Parts: sequence; C-alpha cells; structure tokens
Amino acid sequence: MQNITIHVTVNDEQYIRTIPANMTLLQFLREELHLTGTKEGCDEGECGACTVLIDGHPMNSCLVLAAEMEGKHVLTVEGLAQDGRLHPLQEAFLEVGAVQCGYCTPGMLLSGIAMLNLYPHPTREQIRKEMESKSDYECGKMKADRFVENKRYISAIYEYRRLIEMEEQPNEVLVGNVWHNLGKAYAGLFLFQEAAICLRRAYE
Ligand code: FES
Repeated sequence: MQNITIHVTVNDEQYIRTIPANMTLLQFLREELHLTGTKEGCDEGECGACTVLIDGHPMNSCLVLAAEMEGKHVLTVEGLAQDGRLHPLQEAFLEVGAVQCGYCTPGMLLSGIAMLNLYPHPTREQIRKEMESKSDYECGKMKADRFVENKRYISAIYEYRRLIEMEEQPNEVLVGNVWHNLGKAYAGLFLFQEAAICLRRAYE
C-alpha cells in the first residue's frame, strides 16, 4: 500500500504524518493521534457517531480519507472544551441529560455546533429536521419507549440557543419570557375559573 505524508491541523494542533493512502480520517484520529472521542459506529456513513468538523463543516470521518485532509482544520470533540471548561453546548447536554449510552454524543455535539453556525436561531422543529437530515444517530434509531428520551438533544441545543440569545439580547428575551409566563398564568386562571363555575353548578 502506498504511503502519503499529510499536514493537518486537529483541534488547533498541527501534525505531519506519513500514513497509508487508504486510511480513513476516523482511523487516523483514533489510531494515529489517539483521539478516541470520535466514535466508530456503523462505519457506513449512517449513524453519525464519527462526525467531526472539517473546516467548519460536519462530515462522517468514516467516509473520508485522511489523505484528503492536507492543509485542513479538523475539530473533534476533544477540541470543544477550552481552558478546562466544557463548551456551553456540552454543558447544555449535561444540564438536560441529553445522553443515553453517550456513544454518539460527540457526533451530536459537533453536528449541533455546525447547525447553530448555519442557523443561529433555530426553532425546535428546525433543530430536529436539521439534525435528523444529517445522520441517524444510533439513539435515534430506537423506536421503543426510550424514543422520546432520546430526543433530549433537541432540548439541549434549544436551551443552548436560548442562553446565547440571552447574552446577545438580554432585554428582548426577558420581555419574551415575561409575556410567555403571563400567557401561561392567564391560561391557568381561566381554567381555574372554569373549574370553579363547574363546581358551583354541581352544588346548585
Ligand atoms: Fe461513521 Fe457511523 S461510524 S457514520
């Protein structure tokens, strides 16, 4: 097998490596650089567990040759935390409990970051569509009772987006939240009033 020398930046570190020309990026990350946060699932471009960002674009690293990475920047899950602090999206995943076995979480995180770069203010529906259009994720394949649980990553991304908006436009978000809560309070009051009327009628 022919060997090839590549110059690639992974998580802001530059590497020069001579590798077999048929080595996938996934193998390169895990076996050459020992960055095992990127997971191997289906190895067929279906599950998304191996997702990394290449020059900011999400790609299944099992489908890309490492030899194609000459001069490129690769971001893996190991590159998300900075100065010992988790990336805010990782925090949001923790907060919401958006993991099951956690195997495809690295891929979800990187897909989520890429999606938010494209659509900074997505609705829940957009998050679901965008994320599911990219990959199947192993968790998303389970259709049984754990299915709803598995979609917590949507809530995590949504929550993260809300926090970012809060930082960008604290007043607008605050006003939006006040109206939202007032609406909920009014609906509660209305239901309470209806229940009181029904009770009164029952005793008349
Ligand atoms: Fe690459 Fe499943 S391992 S998409």
